[in-house]
Amino acid sequence: MKNPITHQTALLFTCSLLFIACSTSTNSRTEFAGASDAIPIGIAFAQTSNVALLGQEGTDGVKIAQKYFNDKGGINGKPIKLIFQDTGGDEVGAINAFQTLINQSKVVGIIGPTLSQQAFSTDPIAERHQVPVIGASNTAKGIPEIGDYVARVSSSVTVVAPYAVKAALKQNPQIKKVAVFYAQNDAFNKSETEIFQKTVKDLNLNLVTVQKFQTTDTDFQTQASNAINSKADLAIISGLAVDGGNLVKQLRELGYKGIIIGGNGFNTSHIFSVCRALCDGVIIAQAYSPEYPNAINKAFRQAYMAQYHREPPQVSAQAFAALQVYVEALQSLDKKSKINKLTLPQLRTELNQELLKGKYQTPLGEIAFTPVGDVIQKEFYVARLKMAADGINGKFSYQ
Ligand code: ALA
Repeated sequence: MKNPITHQTALLFTCSLLFIACSTSTNSRTEFAGASDAIPIGIAFAQTSNVALLGQEGTDGVKIAQKYFNDKGGINGKPIKLIFQDTGGDEVGAINAFQTLINQSKVVGIIGPTLSQQAFSTDPIAERHQVPVIGASNTAKGIPEIGDYVARVSSSVTVVAPYAVKAALKQNPQIKKVAVFYAQNDAFNKSETEIFQKTVKDLNLNLVTVQKFQTTDTDFQTQASNAINSKADLAIISGLAVDGGNLVKQLRELGYKGIIIGGNGFNTSHIFSVCRALCDGVIIAQAYSPEYPNAINKAFRQAYMAQYHREPPQVSAQAFAALQVYVEALQSLDKKSKINKLTLPQLRTELNQELLKGKYQTPLGEIAFTPVGDVIQKEFYVARLKMAADGINGKFSYQ
């Protein structure tokens, strides 16, 4: 049963949300001032399609952040209100989501979309409308460079991917021959494989084969056999969880015994149900550790575990951090120039400038932004998938 104070707060909050809904639908002016007591932030993640599992992890992170920051008083007393739009897994769905959030929901800023492949289509729209957008899972090279209003909290593949290759060499210094696989229909995986291939060459390893596939593929017999025939002793896969997991499974079933590295698309516990016991030992570089010892990560981890009964994945932590950036930048802006005195275009522009200036103590550790909007983060990690004897449950092991 709800306690009376929580219930009353919830009622007040609901009333203010109703007020927003009425005033935004009837008010054709672009003024932000007086539009509402709650501050609308757009969330454009995949809720449907083969990308929905990743989109769900983002949604989990922002929902935990919304409660966390609203419980602490929101933006100097005003709550934030998340407005969700499903992007699906393709560019068209993502463009529609952005247009609705910008033009109908009149959000002050957007978090999303889920894929870099989508971001290359949506972020120029946010740029044209001068609406800030923070990527929470876009890791391809070139995302922040799309425009002045585009930033991200998800570290680029350029920074993260080399850690995995170095960890594999540490585990087996005898590695000589490397097979690389990548999903050729996806911008982030194409970008990631370039970094993996460069790292392999920089470390004087022999790149014996490069195998391509599609994120929608399920049969990898040809690619896996080619890698085995080339006598590779390291396999590096850039794909999403389902295709990547199936490729791991088929490599092992065909007898591949070497180390396997998975790229950033493997960064989800949803992969466990795809390759099961055969996921064991896969190396994945990380921009987040659930054990990061600051207060906000402890609070985030505790809230996540209480709800989902497992460790929070990287994308949920990044989504939390993205919302935190908006909240703290809005708080700071409100102290300088009361945000309800600004028009919506002014608020969007000033918020964009403010967020790029800040330093944030997030679950990812301390982050800030380069002038172009790329995240500056200090710590990175390497995890190994550790599957339980039942072959169903697994975890990311940081040992
Ligand atoms: N990291 C993946 C991307 O950027 C989800 O598309």
